[in-house]
Amino acid sequence: LSRAKFPQGFVFGTATSAYQVEGMTNKYGRGPCIWDPFVKLPGSIADNDTADVTVDQYHRYKEDIDLMTKLKFDAYRFSISWSRIFPEGTGRVNWEGVAYYNRLIDYMIEKGITPYANLYHYDLPLTLQEKYLGFLSDQIVNDYADYAEFCFNMFGDRVKNWFTFNEPRIIAALGFDSGINPPSRCSKAIGNCTAGNSGTEPYIAAHNLILSHAAAAQRYHEKYQKTQKGRIGILLDFVWYEPLTRSKDDNYAAQRARDFHLGWFLNPIMYGEYPRTMQEIVGDRLPKFTEEQVKIVKGSADLFGVNLYTAFYMYDPHYQSTSKVFSYQQDWNVGFAYDKNGVPIGQRANSFWLYNVPWGMYKALTYIKERYGNPTIFVSENGMDDPGNVTLPEGLYDTTRINYYKGYISELKKAMDDGVNVIGYFAWSILDNFEWRSGYTSRFGIVYIDWKNNLKRIPKLSAYWFRQILGNY
Ligand code: GCO
Repeated sequence: LSRAKFPQGFVFGTATSAYQVEGMTNKYGRGPCIWDPFVKLPGSIADNDTADVTVDQYHRYKEDIDLMTKLKFDAYRFSISWSRIFPEGTGRVNWEGVAYYNRLIDYMIEKGITPYANLYHYDLPLTLQEKYLGFLSDQIVNDYADYAEFCFNMFGDRVKNWFTFNEPRIIAALGFDSGINPPSRCSKAIGNCTAGNSGTEPYIAAHNLILSHAAAAQRYHEKYQKTQKGRIGILLDFVWYEPLTRSKDDNYAAQRARDFHLGWFLNPIMYGEYPRTMQEIVGDRLPKFTEEQVKIVKGSADLFGVNLYTAFYMYDPHYQSTSKVFSYQQDWNVGFAYDKNGVPIGQRANSFWLYNVPWGMYKALTYIKERYGNPTIFVSENGMDDPGNVTLPEGLYDTTRINYYKGYISELKKAMDDGVNVIGYFAWSILDNFEWRSGYTSRFGIVYIDWKNNLKRIPKLSAYWFRQILGNY
């Protein structure tokens, strides 16, 4: 496995997000986002960790970009914090925030690292949630497009790869169905979420995410693309769903899962409508696109990022869930998912290395090619967590992670050899960082962070493995 086996110009990069790596959440003019009050609630984050400092990339971005060049990566997928630019989401600009991103982007350009800028990675300005419930209101569409257009203006002379949202499905499902992520709204009363939207809010939030994406893309295409010559897309999460047997029911369970996972967003953006399975199952809880909206949503992405970590087997036990409370999870999860050892998902610790099925990468990418007409895609996230919070020095000898990457990147190459139009691959992540509700108990980095010793960056074996496969050019 080496770079030489990939086409000239194929992009190898790493990915992070603003909230997970910047730190300085309440410094240098940044306004609060919906995660800031959430992480302060006792018990919401493992070890009651917060992202107020994390790896302090706000101050140490040069060191991190130097690491990327040392390891021979070509690009860096970072995200811009909306509330660091517009502390209240709209109106007043925090020019210290603009200056930070200019420093970050300028240094990338100086060191030959291509910036891949993601405009939104879960960090909604708190003011917009408080003012009109964020993505539950169509007011977000214009506010989001204004924020995006400001960024095109400020950074578009150097940034040629823009992405509107990271994992809109996770935003809709975890923020408005299960309620385990902010803004903590749920379809059925579980835990400390705001209860009882009986499965309508996930679909309203998703609809406004799609309209916000389309509005920003339309402004880019109509007002900036000609002069700035960049492209704009969206980052979607997916896993491969394999039917447990060849039965009609298991095949239907697998297809329904793929539709509710990827098709929820890819179908509207490719075809201007939600997947058939979703329309049948969700019925009148599913918002409709007007004629006008179809025109700007359909074909609104120049390329797609696919965040892919694992694969599940789908099995349909022939019974519908009995509870009459609607929810996104209920709507699509009639089948059970199994891991590669045939154990039903949900009974296992949610650690990625348990679901290490690399062929899922091949199946997922060839599925996208066949079902969606071979759109331009790239793997925008792939990687694994260390089991538990490993300490030094064993935390550096991550041979399991090297095997994980070997497997998935080899399957990616097989998919490309079978004609899938993939332009790049981004590992999640360059550094151990704030892993949302898992805090710092998870470690996804190819570079170890010594949280006890001044956030020291220490490359793991997997970092040197990447340098080796990316080196020979
Ligand atoms: C995402 C993910 C990242 C995670 C990574 C590992 O939505 O892209 O939540 O932010 O850190 O996927 O879980």
